[in-house]
Amino acid sequence: MDQISQLKRRPKLAGDDEPAYLGGAPSFDQTLAFNQPTLSSFASIRPAIEKIIDSGQLTNGQNVKDFEAKATDYFGRPTVAVASCTSGLILMAKVLGLTGHVIVPSFTFFATTHALLWNNLKPRFVDIDTDSWTIDPEAVEKGIDSSVSAILAVDIGGNPSEKDALEEISKRHGIKLITDAAHAFGSVYKDKLVGGFGDAEVFSLSPTKLVVAGEGGLVTLSDPEVAEELKVARDYGNSGDYNCQFVGLNARMTEINAVIGMANMEQVSEFVARRNEIAEAYRINLKHLPGLTWQTVAADNICAYKDISVLIEAVEFGMDRDLLGEALEAEGIGTRKYYSPPAHEQKAYGDKVSIAGKLINTDRVSQNVLSLPVFSHMKNEDIDRVCQAIIRIYKYRDEISGRAERNARG
Ligand SMILES: Cc1ncc(COP(=O)(O)O)c(C=O)c1O
Repeated sequence: MDQISQLKRRPKLAGDDEPAYLGGAPSFDQTLAFNQPTLSSFASIRPAIEKIIDSGQLTNGQNVKDFEAKATDYFGRPTVAVASCTSGLILMAKVLGLTGHVIVPSFTFFATTHALLWNNLKPRFVDIDTDSWTIDPEAVEKGIDSSVSAILAVDIGGNPSEKDALEEISKRHGIKLITDAAHAFGSVYKDKLVGGFGDAEVFSLSPTKLVVAGEGGLVTLSDPEVAEELKVARDYGNSGDYNCQFVGLNARMTEINAVIGMANMEQVSEFVARRNEIAEAYRINLKHLPGLTWQTVAADNICAYKDISVLIEAVEFGMDRDLLGEALEAEGIGTRKYYSPPAHEQKAYGDKVSIAGKLINTDRVSQNVLSLPVFSHMKNEDIDRVCQAIIRIYKYRDEISGRAERNARG
C-alpha cells in the first residue's frame, strides 16, 4: 500500500498525535522562528569594531572599501556598497537614467517596485514562469514598447531568473537590464555567479538574507564608470566639491555594517550548501503528501534558497495555505506568505502601475504559496519536526477544516 493510501486508511487516533490546532501538544514549546540570521562570531569581528570605535571613523572609512574590494573579487565585476538593497535599486534607476515604463514581475517584495516609484518611473507588471516563479521572458518581450527603458528582473527566493534570455532581449531592444538579486547572494546561473549579469545586480544584506551586514546592500555593475557614479549618488550626489550635479541620497554603508558583512561573506558557500540540504530534506520528507508543488530550480543553476516556498493546492491537500499556516502557527512554527499580496495589488500603488498581459501564474502562486522556516544553522531535528507537523496536519485535515469552519461561524 502506498503512503497516501496508508494515511487515508489510518484509523483516527485520539489525543497524543493530534495537531496543536485541535488541542494536541505543539511541536515546539518555543516558536521556531521562520528565519534567523547566521552571524559570524563576535570574537572574529571584535578587533575591527574596536578599531572603528577607537578611531571615530564610523563612515567613509577603510572597511567599506575593503568590503567592496572583496565583493568585486567574488562577483568578478565592480561592486559598490550601499545602505540597503532598496536604496541601491533607487540609485541604479537614477544613475542608469531610466525613463517611462519599466518591466517588472509582480511576484516580488514591494521594495522592488517602490524603488521605481521613488524615481517617478512607471512599473509595468508582467507574469512569472509557471515553475521557476521568476519573470517570464516571453511576457517581457510582449510587454516592451517604445516607452520601456528597462527590465527589472527579480531572482525570487534566490532562484536565478532566465539571465541569457533577458540579456538577449534587453540588448536587442537597447534597454537596460537590472536584477533585484536581494535573495540571490551565492546563487549560480549556469556556470557564473549571480552578480555578473546585465547592467546591474543588487543584493540585500539585511537580517533575513544569507549574508548579513545588519542593514546594507551590494550593487554589481557592468560599467566601471557607472560604478563611480553610483558612489557619488550614494553620497547625496556630491562628487566632492559640494556642488551636486544631481540629487542623490545618503545611502552609505557604515563601517560597522561593512565589518559584519565582510566576515559573514566568508561563509556564503557553506550557507548555500546547507540551505540546499534543507530544501532537499523538505521535499523528500513531504513527497508522499498530495497537493504540494515546489519552486523549480533549473538543473544547471544553484539557488541560494533565501526562502523555501511551496504551493498548497487546497483541493488535493485538504486545506488551503492560510489554514495550513494557522495550523503550523499553533504548532509553534513560523511561516510566511512570500509574496502575498503581490506587488500589483499593493494599496499604495493605485493607478501609478499597469499590467501587460495576464498575471495568471503570479495570482496562482501568490494565492497558494507558503514559505517554510529556513536559516543556515537550522538543525536536522527541527526540519524533521516541521515535516512531522505538516504530515500530522494533513492526516487530520478533515477535522482541522471542520474546526476552522465552526470557528468562522463563531
Ligand atoms: C526581493 C527584495 N527586494 C528588495 C528588498 C529590500 O532589501 P533591503 O531591506 O536591503 O532594502 C527585499 C527585502 O527583503 C526583497 O525581498
